[in-house]
Amino acid sequence: MAHQLVVEAPAKVNLTLDVKGKRSDGYHELETVMHQISLADRLTITAIPEGIEVQSNCPDLPAGEMNLAYKAAQVILKEYPDRGGVSIYIDKNIPLGAGLAGGSTDAAAVLKGINVLYNLDLSPSQLMAMGGAIGSDVPFCLQGGTALARGRGEILEPLPPNLHLHLLLVKPGFSVSTAEVYRRFDMDKVNNPPDNRAFLEGWHHCDMIGISRAMENVLETVTAAHYQEIDQIKERLIRLGAIKALMSGSGPTVFGLFRDRASAEQAWYEFQPCEEEIFLVTSYDGRKSAWKRNVCNRST
Ligand code: C5P
Repeated sequence: MAHQLVVEAPAKVNLTLDVKGKRSDGYHELETVMHQISLADRLTITAIPEGIEVQSNCPDLPAGEMNLAYKAAQVILKEYPDRGGVSIYIDKNIPLGAGLAGGSTDAAAVLKGINVLYNLDLSPSQLMAMGGAIGSDVPFCLQGGTALARGRGEILEPLPPNLHLHLLLVKPGFSVSTAEVYRRFDMDKVNNPPDNRAFLEGWHHCDMIGISRAMENVLETVTAAHYQEIDQIKERLIRLGAIKALMSGSGPTVFGLFRDRASAEQAWYEFQPCEEEIFLVTSYDGRKSAWKRNVCNRST
């Protein structure tokens, strides 16, 4: 049995996000295209005799059950009380509270890692069921790639890897609470929902302009209404040559979609960050992740 392993945990962006209604369980019924990107955390998972320990290079990461990686270890090890415990070190690169599924992808990596480390032989659907109990985005993070997600986000229709995207991510200097954004969401304020049917059509024809026309995120009606930075960043990205600029998930990260690597890189050089973190990324292709990061704070 392996004693230790390293698992990569890629972030996601939502290429579309539509809310179809509020459910009786308090969650919202979604229709969203999720897409894994090359910005990733790296988790080192070590077998220890008992207990769960989580450490990180990020002091702001919550400890204990508030940390989804810890919760994932708890959920899976509870089923196998005789196996032992884990020590998890999270090399955190994905910003927190950013709309990039940073916590969910760490949880997915822990489930996959412990499954291998302790030879549990759990099937993908068993892992997905555990993931769904931890958070709405965890099943997608387990599956990866690109998918149309429905329900709370756990009903997944995988899409083929037809387009390799070049994106510039801009994370403003503040974070938002997903629960709070959904709490404030008002269907009546939506006047520009995504066209998921047109998106799928474009995706299947490898039509970048086609998908860009269909991309919208209805949660902007909450986050962008509250923080004017969202629309300002979108405008800056369009001025720098993005075909489309959109908020990811509940925000506040905004991403620009570029025609190719050269135009994305040019925008990365020209974007003058104030308090934002910026990341030049691509679609995640399952190989070792890669991104360029740039942070600059004028006050320092
Ligand atoms: O599932 P997860 O814990 O990641 O979701 C965080 C919060 O976002 C939930 O507590 C809920 O308030 C909200 N949410 C929602 N509908 C979804 C997903 C999340 O209302 N489909």
